[in-house]
Amino acid sequence: MTTPIKVGVVGAGFAAAFHLRCYRQVQGVPVEVAAIVDINKSRAEELAKRNGVPKVYDDFRYVLEDPSIQVIDLVVPNALHLPMVLDAAKAGKHILCEKPLTGYFGEGEPEEKVGTTSKRKMLQKVQQDLQTVSKVMASHKGKFCYAENWVHAPAFKKGMELMEKCFVSGSILDIRGEESHSGSHSEFAKWWRYSGGGALARLGAHPLASGLFLKQFEGEKKFGKPILVKEVWADGTDLTKTPAFAKSKGSPLVTGWGDVETWSQITLTFTDGTKATFFAADDLLGGMESNMDVRLTNARIKFDLCPVRICQFYTVDPAPVKDVYFNEKQETKAGLSFPNPHEEWLLGYPHEIQDFMEAIAFDRPPLTGLELAKQVVEVLYAGYVSMEEGRKVILS
Ligand SMILES: NC(=O)c1ccc[n+]([C@@H]2O[C@H](COP(=O)([O-])OP(=O)(O)OC[C@H]3O[C@@H](n4cnc5c(N)ncnc54)[C@H](O)[C@@H]3O)[C@@H](O)[C@H]2O)c1
Repeated sequence: MTTPIKVGVVGAGFAAAFHLRCYRQVQGVPVEVAAIVDINKSRAEELAKRNGVPKVYDDFRYVLEDPSIQVIDLVVPNALHLPMVLDAAKAGKHILCEKPLTGYFGEGEPEEKVGTTSKRKMLQKVQQDLQTVSKVMASHKGKFCYAENWVHAPAFKKGMELMEKCFVSGSILDIRGEESHSGSHSEFAKWWRYSGGGALARLGAHPLASGLFLKQFEGEKKFGKPILVKEVWADGTDLTKTPAFAKSKGSPLVTGWGDVETWSQITLTFTDGTKATFFAADDLLGGMESNMDVRLTNARIKFDLCPVRICQFYTVDPAPVKDVYFNEKQETKAGLSFPNPHEEWLLGYPHEIQDFMEAIAFDRPPLTGLELAKQVVEVLYAGYVSMEEGRKVILS
């Protein structure tokens, strides 16, 4: 294969920057990022310059209309994912979409009221939207690649290899996972209107997608069909609005949250009666925590995606290392730390882009595709219904 796959990256923010670094690492498949689009054109120009990307636009339509661009990579705010996915599909492009595929962002309510909309109504709306995506995608010949990096992480892939062997005599009984940190610094993350939810949607989407993926993987290996979720039970709150937080002083945790939860827990029951529980919160000091513990009848597998303890560093005075990158959201480098030698690699970002480019080049399904993306959204919003109504939600 000599003709490069041409990609148009839409969005030039935080996630676009690491996607760009990953495209440069793709091996065995020629890939060219041909254009970057951002409504903030100077941001797109700066990212394009750093990565040698020839074209910059301030409107998504230009990459849709450019017949030389085969792939649209959506790294834009969550509320734009669904409309852009539908437009890209109609334009016949392959699609990469960041998490989550979609959510509820309001249907004419005043912006500050969106988070108070009945969660049952939100679930119904996202279910309708997911049906629309399914219909559009049914006639779409391109690939849909869901950018859930956890599933592509080297530790997770090793776990899949081990689990596949264990499935001969064993079953996954219990999955526990978490993604937490001290809080997003994006003002958009604080309001439902822009983010489509709080910690559960923003952080919990990773362990949730990975747990769903594992039970689907188990079902497909054993019975030729996925094991799905039948029941969802969740809880959530904004811990920064508690009296305990109000009394505290000088917390480094992010504050100023609008209408979204900063602490969440979701428990799933699968159709085979097994369980999964995930935590996602903005209440954690000391850097990001991304982990999963999978308990089988005949084995146990743990993934520590972040932090990793393969490099240990102790100092009383962190001043000499102030410019050295350690870990996402680590507040201090004093004391004992675990500087991450390659955070993006260990989190699976280059691997997901490699998988997606191979899927497109060799016309095979990506490891993480549309079905997983849809299920994550439905389970997340069933979780929000459960939080609001204080009871379990049954999925059909
Ligand atoms: N997989 C992960 O670990 C991970 C990590 C971070 C972000 N994300 C996801 O990536 C997406 C982007 O997040 P981010 O942190 O990069 O946000 P960001 O705010 O840093 O960047 C988003 C960019 O999109 C641009 N934009 C807004 N509207 C646009 C439009 N109509 N057309 C073109 N560009 C437009 C903004 O100007 C901004 O530059 C989100 O969906 C988020 O959930 C995933």
